[in-house]
Amino acid sequence: KRQGRLLVVANRLPVTISQDKNGQFDFKMASGGLVSALQSLSKTMEFQWFGWPGTEIHKNDQATIKDQLATRFHAVPIFLSQQTMNSYYSGFSNSVLWPLLHNMAFRAQFDGSWTEAYREVNEIFAEHILPLSEDGDLIWIHDYHLLLLPGILRDRLKAKKGVRIGFFLHTPFPTEDTFSVLPFREAICHGLLSSDLVGLHVREYVETFLDAAEKVLPDVRRSPSDLHYQERKLIVKEFPVGIDPDAFKTSLSSEETKREMMSLEQAFRGCKILLGVDRLDYIKGIPQKLRAFDRFLHDHPEWIGKLVLVQVAIPTRSDVSDYRAIRSEVEELVGSINGKHGTLNWTPIRYLYTSLKPEQLHALYALSDVCIVSSVRDGLNLVSFEYVACQTARKGVLVLSQYTGAAKLFSSAVLFNPWDLPRFSDAILTALEMPLKDRQQKHDSAIKAVETWTSMRWGMSFLDTLQSSSLED
Ligand code: UDP
Ligand code: G6P
Repeated sequence: KRQGRLLVVANRLPVTISQDKNGQFDFKMASGGLVSALQSLSKTMEFQWFGWPGTEIHKNDQATIKDQLATRFHAVPIFLSQQTMNSYYSGFSNSVLWPLLHNMAFRAQFDGSWTEAYREVNEIFAEHILPLSEDGDLIWIHDYHLLLLPGILRDRLKAKKGVRIGFFLHTPFPTEDTFSVLPFREAICHGLLSSDLVGLHVREYVETFLDAAEKVLPDVRRSPSDLHYQERKLIVKEFPVGIDPDAFKTSLSSEETKREMMSLEQAFRGCKILLGVDRLDYIKGIPQKLRAFDRFLHDHPEWIGKLVLVQVAIPTRSDVSDYRAIRSEVEELVGSINGKHGTLNWTPIRYLYTSLKPEQLHALYALSDVCIVSSVRDGLNLVSFEYVACQTARKGVLVLSQYTGAAKLFSSAVLFNPWDLPRFSDAILTALEMPLKDRQQKHDSAIKAVETWTSMRWGMSFLDTLQSSSLED
């Protein structure tokens, strides 16, 4: 049995705070895979969160927000100014690390002041955690915003007994040639290897990480079973994150989701639904999806008027220029495809630039005949898991890019290369025409993967491995 407390540290808290015109604060669930994963984990285990509350909070309001977050969400906010966020979050994290970790060195931009801000924010996180940590704590740090934090904590926690530090990276890990582009790559590898356990989604990322660490740092020793760094032993292992499938079952039987389903059924009567749900990020391959759909409509005019592509584009990181550019590109494509193939009473793409309420999202998942995930690179991709979890009745088809971590787990999905336009368009046809018997078979196999690789299993196995990792003191 696990002892000690669990401290979970991530850039983003599960809630984003906003203020209405009367000055009242509102707490909304934050978007993205990391929050979804930790949110479902928080239903089965108790932990204290540390993270940024999603916006700048005036110093007069910080005490109130801190109290509310502590009582309602077990969360400790790390308040950061807009200026710091510009350099640390939009700058170093999302304009340097994010593209590099997704093997897109050509998108990375560099600015010396971002590096400093990144170090400073990792320090600020440490300063919040240190006074609250006790002997025997498990500290679980998440994602690329906090790569230096394990190293800082390792140095400063020496006086505490039995504290263990785990790190989970929610992104892919790039090949060594891309990783070596990174400024202070040694410090980053040192930071990660200061953990007792480093987790990544799939084996491939574990291998690329270990290759990079071995090349970048002199003191790394690897054997088939062990990894040593500076005379300490640590574990690097794959733990795919997954979802809580029961939460989707519960939602689908709720009155509110059923109401949403009824209204959607009416809106899309007589049409097959193809669904895309993505943060509006260049890793998601949304332009590729739209071009493939354009080609599909061109090659298969018999489908005109009989299907609709619902593309939900979740707003994200709009302070970063590449994200504004991808939005323009996507919206231009949507406009041109709708103009080209649409008729007076039919629009091929229903495009939404918004976050959805969970009940609306789950209703859409349940009603769609096909879900298309066309990422050109994606750590795991939870949307694919969520779609499968909602398809017990319809047996819809998952069309999944081979460049997602999820593709390693869903061998039964229609796997494809999003850059290969003709075959992408063929994959859409295959999915639309697939007989029930084959859909059933594919669904049975996919749901098995969803029910095996749950977020609960992810959390438990990561923490059990962390707990049993060797101790220095
Ligand atoms: N999601 C969301 N808001 C929405 C629609 C979806 O937060 O309006 C969730 C979705 O349910 C999923 C997560 O965002 O859990 C996306 O995770 P994924 O791993 O697919 O991609 P990421 O956004 O982490 O790159
Ligand atoms: C990905 C990252 C997460 C991040 C999420 C949403 O899943 O791995 O760390 O929270 O995207 O992005 P945001 O920048 O809004 O936190």
